[in-house]
Amino acid sequence: MRTPVIAGNWKLFKTAPEAIGLVTGLVPLIAGKSGVEVVIAPVFTVLDRVRSAIAGSGIHLAAQDCFWEEEGAFTGEVSPKMLIDAGCTHVIIGHSERRQYFGETDATVNRKIHAAGVAGLTVLFCVGETLEERESGNTFNVLRTQIAGGLAGVGTAAMERVIVAYEPVWAIGTGRTASDEQAQEAHAFIRSELHSLYGPATAAATRILYGGSVKPENIGGLIAQNDIDGALVGGASLKAESFAVLVNAA
Ligand code: 13P
Repeated sequence: MRTPVIAGNWKLFKTAPEAIGLVTGLVPLIAGKSGVEVVIAPVFTVLDRVRSAIAGSGIHLAAQDCFWEEEGAFTGEVSPKMLIDAGCTHVIIGHSERRQYFGETDATVNRKIHAAGVAGLTVLFCVGETLEERESGNTFNVLRTQIAGGLAGVGTAAMERVIVAYEPVWAIGTGRTASDEQAQEAHAFIRSELHSLYGPATAAATRILYGGSVKPENIGGLIAQNDIDGALVGGASLKAESFAVLVNAA
């Protein structure tokens, strides 16, 4: 009942010609694949051009972040309304790199999730523990705090446009993927938290993606887990061939 999602987070990569080259290669490799929601998240400056390049392909366009105000004196920010204007249907919020390097907190993540939802964007809401937190036995506490904080005041109806992405920080860009069992355990915990907050229907309907060194070699085991509904992919989304393998595996 949950449509799987394969989302590529391009992070700070790809100029416009590179971005167009990537999607031009990708589109034919996944043409005809149905039953999976494919999302790509380029940098802000190429969104509009990528939008044209993926027109008619069924690929959804995401931004990697947004601000919570619609407009105003907020130098350097981009609002949900502007993302929609650039062709986005999705937005990543609360990525660990934003929490780590740009001071994002559960409170700012929460404001952004509200604003994105009001604007009509589907949110890829990222959570995940650091290695230290895992090794000190705090994984579930961290996830509980991030989920409760990020989703504070987000109602059941708004949850229809929230996708949760579990990205253990120690697995991002390290080549060290969580094992299928570690990932499934965390996903099941996240689903149980959604059950406590929203009840059984929302818990059963919400997609929970795994992120952290997802590659063609490990997607099969991850996607086979009961509570893993797809992947949020960094490195392997930067090449058409590897991203297409992930899409076609879902
Ligand atoms: P990698 O797939 O490069 O580990 O990145 C994961 C990620 O952070 C996706 O948002």
